Amino acid sequence: MSRRAQNFVCQNCGAVSGRWQGKCESCGEWNTIVEETAAAPTGPVPGRRARRGRLFALEPLQGEAQAAPRLASGLPELDRVTGGGFVKGSVLLVGGDPGIGKSTLLIQATAAMAKARHRAVYISGEEAVAQVRLRAERLGLLGAPVELAAETSVEDIIATLGEGATPRLIVIDSIQTMWTDTVESAPGTVTQVRSAAQALIRFAKRSGAAMFLVGHVTKDGQIAGPRVVEHMVDAVLSFEGDGLHQFRILRAVKNRFGPTDEIGVFEMTGAGLREVANPSELFLSQRDLGTPGTAVFAGIEGTRPILVELQALVAPTTLGTPRRAVIGWDPGRLSMVLAVLEAHCGVKLGGHDVYLNVAGGLRIAEPAADLAAAAALVSSLANAPLPADAVYFGEISLSGAIRPVAQTAARLKEAQKLGFARAIVPEAVRGETAADAGLSLTATGALSTIVADIAARGTHPRRHELGARQDG
Ligand code: TYD
Ligand code: MG
Repeated sequence: MSRRAQNFVCQNCGAVSGRWQGKCESCGEWNTIVEETAAAPTGPVPGRRARRGRLFALEPLQGEAQAAPRLASGLPELDRVTGGGFVKGSVLLVGGDPGIGKSTLLIQATAAMAKARHRAVYISGEEAVAQVRLRAERLGLLGAPVELAAETSVEDIIATLGEGATPRLIVIDSIQTMWTDTVESAPGTVTQVRSAAQALIRFAKRSGAAMFLVGHVTKDGQIAGPRVVEHMVDAVLSFEGDGLHQFRILRAVKNRFGPTDEIGVFEMTGAGLREVANPSELFLSQRDLGTPGTAVFAGIEGTRPILVELQALVAPTTLGTPRRAVIGWDPGRLSMVLAVLEAHCGVKLGGHDVYLNVAGGLRIAEPAADLAAAAALVSSLANAPLPADAVYFGEISLSGAIRPVAQTAARLKEAQKLGFARAIVPEAVRGETAADAGLSLTATGALSTIVADIAARGTHPRRHELGARQDG
């Protein structure tokens, strides 16, 4: 009788249960549980005698510390995100939607390393060698001495890379296609991904090569497969952008060797990814400058700052009950903002349809977007374009006050990085971060003041009615 236990493993969170279930009790996802052969049993491997542990020296905290030796990649935007280049023996995980440009970015990085006379290896588990060549040709990289292979067996890869000089950079595209002989599960399952990543990471640490693992991303933006891979690597980078625009943002979600608040900005062109040294240029070129009804919100997604445009359209309704349509934001919060505008700022919207859209398909959950939404709505109603170089953030309370929000410094830093010159913020922000913000801050405590400011620049026939009540 076989003693090998069968486990049921959630492909989303890695939780193990004894039987199949439709819904994972650990993370709540549906249809993610797959039967897998149990991973290596605990206790000594059969055939090997249990040995006594080897003694090792414990060291004091004080002592010689070396700065991690780094090697610049040749792509400054990439280096900015990694914290100044590749650290020897470090492993980076890069996630992003399919087709966003992960393979393009990494073949460009590999080629840049190879051109600088470092041994750089690109292992593709998804594409044939010819396909990778075709891409390299399009990118004009055929001259770079990159070592290329289409392989998926972790054992074969480690054996091959162990020969000759240690590569300075190894790219594994992608970790979900890799498999190892040591576990029986199918490639792509949590157990395989975890074991394959473990073996590759061990190789990188042992050899001192910097390694990039490409990871697929699920529909809600998590790196597919076990979250444990994220815990095993030194840095997790996420490559983002939306299909309709050319710009791509690389950001560090986790980084053991550097900051996580730096972003790298690229533009996808016909000849690959172009680094954007001045992101505001690119970012602002996507916007309808000077159009009433748009406001830029400086938001935070998890730990990551992200700037996004809120677009509002306020138009007289032809229906008995005016429409309230919102995409990418909480309709309940929209109703609240409308009610506050009406009650405290004299903005009457009962006879208007209101549409609010978060550009780029992003979903915002933060109350901090209240102020940007309110500004966009008033801007549309008053036909008054907002300043193009301004960002907005702040929570609106039911009393019409603008409340401070968390991570102000990160928001301002991101705004400054993206080329904005001013920020309309809650009053409490003024002293807190003004010194290092590098932005001109307009700190306001009452929504009515901002509404009056916007309305004063508008061309709405009844603009004087807007913001008439300054008492807030
Ligand atoms: P790719 O790097 O294959 O994405 P990923 O590995 O993240 O799935 O990028 C594929 C997309 O990029 C594809 O839609 C075409 C586009 N692209 C360009 O626009 N220009 C280029 O020079 C290249 C190579 C790709
Ligand atoms: Mg790819």
